[in-house]
Amino acid sequence: MSHLKEVFNEQFHAEPTVFAFAPGRINLIGEHTDYNGGYVFPAAIELGTYGVARLREDDQINIYSLNFKETGVMSFSLSDLSYQKKHQWANYPKGMIHYLVETYPEINQGFDIVVEGNIPNGASLSSSASIELLTGHLVTELFELQIDRLELVKLGQRVENQFIGVNSGIMDQFIVGFGRRDHAILLDTHTLEYHHVPTEFGDYKISIMNTNKRRELAESKYNERRSECEAALKLLQQRLDVSALGEISVASFEANQDVIDSDVLRRRARHAITENARTKAAYQALQNHDFETFGQLLNASHQSLKEDYEVTGIELDTLAESAQAVEGVLGARMTGAGFAGCAIALVHQDKIQELERQVTEQYVKTVGYAPSFYHVDIVDGVRTIIEQ
Ligand code: GLA
Repeated sequence: MSHLKEVFNEQFHAEPTVFAFAPGRINLIGEHTDYNGGYVFPAAIELGTYGVARLREDDQINIYSLNFKETGVMSFSLSDLSYQKKHQWANYPKGMIHYLVETYPEINQGFDIVVEGNIPNGASLSSSASIELLTGHLVTELFELQIDRLELVKLGQRVENQFIGVNSGIMDQFIVGFGRRDHAILLDTHTLEYHHVPTEFGDYKISIMNTNKRRELAESKYNERRSECEAALKLLQQRLDVSALGEISVASFEANQDVIDSDVLRRRARHAITENARTKAAYQALQNHDFETFGQLLNASHQSLKEDYEVTGIELDTLAESAQAVEGVLGARMTGAGFAGCAIALVHQDKIQELERQVTEQYVKTVGYAPSFYHVDIVDGVRTIIEQ
């Protein structure tokens, strides 16, 4: 924070008045279920985005990111908050500001913001939800607005859907908004009912494994998966009175899947429906401290994302499958949207080094470069930080 303050001083010759942090996230299980009205089970992590800000006298908005020094300060005016390609990464905070200004006319003067994140870029750990919610929080603090957390979360999702153009669900913004230290959230994306569940894994820890491959074309593939689910749902609705795949049980899907005449669409629906069932089962397993079952569900999730949903690829498969083969690993799967980014493993605390050694060896052999590993704390959602 003192570093950010210094940079702020250099850039804007002034002192910031608000300091905040927004986490990134992992998803334990429940992948590609959030836009199908199913369950998700994410947790906020200590990798995230820090930001400092102050109000200006004019209507100028300046944002500087230490992660994108080469682009310099991004500047725009309060009166033109439209998406612009030239604003690159700054379109995420800009989108958030856009929707806030639209809803809250009290935001009637400009401000300066400096941010710095330590979420590896393109790692599927929600750096975009993190900066969206961080911006939302900084701006509401600057103008002392009383905004409901859920409203901020929904504005963040709107940024993705309408400003950026990715039809993502609500999971990432929700966990960045509502995360709690040492807890995951079981969220029913259909009703938005949720509760915090202690991430108490006994002698086991979650390792994050990064493919170090940047996601490419992930947005268009993501949108494609979503439309495939919608098409499969339409077909199932010929027989079933449901409004989302998340309402269909595995048994009912099996009895009615013949109505889907495309193999691809059938597999997409099967993933969404079985993943939803796995997520509920994983929650039960965690409640019972049955880590073995929890781990097996992680493995089954990865398998389904690989075979039925086809969002893994050689990098994620190598990470997850080589981790699964390590003694002391109860389960492993990709996390987030897929295509690249990260996987997680549930590993005995004494076997972490062995996991890293064996997975790296296999990964280098298959992919040609090394993966990275992180061990992180589960933390609270977006919040103000008191300056030390
Ligand atoms: C991305 C999206 C989420 C969710 C996951 C897949 O992270 O932003 O809404 O769909 O992919 O589970």
